Amino acid sequence: MPRLDPYFKQVDSLKDTFIQRLREAVAIPSISSEDERRPDVVKMGHWLADQIKALGGTVELRELGKQPQHEHLDLPPCLLARYGDDPKKRTVLLYGHYDVQPAQKSDGWNTDPFTLTIDEKDRMFGRGSTDDKGPVLGWLNAIEAHQKAGIELPVNLIMCFEGMEENGSEGLDDTIRAEAKKFFKDADVVCISDNYWLGTEKPCLTYGVRGCNYYSVEVSGPGADLHSGVYGGMTHEPMTDLIRIMNSFVDPDGKILIKGIDDLVAPLTEDEAALYPPISFTMSDLHEGLGSETSIYDNKEDSLKHKMRYPSLSLHGIEGAFYTPGAKTVIPAKVIGKFSVRTVPNMEIDDVTALVQKHVDAEFAKLKSKNKMKFNVVHCGKWWVEDPSHPNYTAAAKAVERVFGVQPDMTREGGSIPVTLTFQEELGKNVLLLPMGSSTDGAHSINEKLDKRNYIEGTKLLGAYLHYVAEELKL
Ligand code: BES
Ligand code: ZN
Repeated sequence: MPRLDPYFKQVDSLKDTFIQRLREAVAIPSISSEDERRPDVVKMGHWLADQIKALGGTVELRELGKQPQHEHLDLPPCLLARYGDDPKKRTVLLYGHYDVQPAQKSDGWNTDPFTLTIDEKDRMFGRGSTDDKGPVLGWLNAIEAHQKAGIELPVNLIMCFEGMEENGSEGLDDTIRAEAKKFFKDADVVCISDNYWLGTEKPCLTYGVRGCNYYSVEVSGPGADLHSGVYGGMTHEPMTDLIRIMNSFVDPDGKILIKGIDDLVAPLTEDEAALYPPISFTMSDLHEGLGSETSIYDNKEDSLKHKMRYPSLSLHGIEGAFYTPGAKTVIPAKVIGKFSVRTVPNMEIDDVTALVQKHVDAEFAKLKSKNKMKFNVVHCGKWWVEDPSHPNYTAAAKAVERVFGVQPDMTREGGSIPVTLTFQEELGKNVLLLPMGSSTDGAHSINEKLDKRNYIEGTKLLGAYLHYVAEELKL
């Protein structure tokens, strides 16, 4: 059993330093989906590179070129970093992202989203706290605590931290492919900390994510926004057409109404069905995460299956919809509806897109509208499932037991991390998701937070994992 106590002690004594590190990171609004925030995403990349250099690592800020369909914008750099280069040690590849979802106080945050704010329950609020700045910094904290404790890291680290994950990881697949036999060649296993525990008490190891096919439908007609009193009743209205199309995708119970989608889904086997009952998760965990009791299913097994192994379709918003408060008697001239399908084995990206497009075309044709409709594929990333019996997982389970005193749940995630599959396929190495945050953290939502306990114990966990994985993969 690795000697970890001096490391754990050091993590505890560096707690305030680590929180300060997260505070600085949260203060940089690195929102990848907003063009005008791009300089902040770049700033965040440089800040992170400086942190790694200060710890003695080497870093390249790899430029990824222009952003597709936004040719005036450079993609934020991807950090390719190394810490340690000892041929007698195994090498672990760490991936994470330093970009965040949008956030504005006016969305309903109780505090400024870009000022880390700690409440009396030791919850640290701020955009990116749990997704994914806290976990990324957890790795740096682990390095620092080892240094200060005078303990050598038992593995070499290769790091790949990107700034475009929340936008479909644009540009990264090519880099991973190009570097698989170069920069990433020494990697023995991959570890990603970018998801969440199922509840609030028990850690989990995650061996699958759903894919995400993201689409938009644009409907336009009139040359400009019109007065609804002057023109209402005399023109086909883009919003009316779009709402009809958007309304045809899914029923109120979440059933996808696009013909052929269900046939692409791998049937549930008995062995697989047996995996769900032992998972420690309750309907009240779900309701706590939802902040309501609006769950579709009344039991944990069905809820979990629909998160982990069935597809879902969500409607995300309508651009041009005049959604700000106040009665406005306008006919919007052009509206863009956005939606996505979370995909699972054995759904292929292109098969899903073909069915969705066919459905959209048919629904629009039914309307006999003179407006113009354009269907767009925004981004697509495929699902990933890994072999959880690999030593990479055994090591992580031992680390969880050591730090938290429990056996982790084995889970698949409903969310998506597009590059998990790319790493698995291009490097041919086992990929593990080792989360730090909990189900109530509110990633992508208002009042996103990371509990101090998850951050500090999570830092211990990441460091402990490196020791156990070195042991499991002993050369
Ligand atoms: N950290 C999440 C991934 C995640 C979410 C894992 C929920 C497990 C549960 C990540 O930052 C994310 O949100 N990814 C996007 C990817 C998409 C844009 C392709 C997502 O899932 O929406
Ligand atoms: Zn994330």
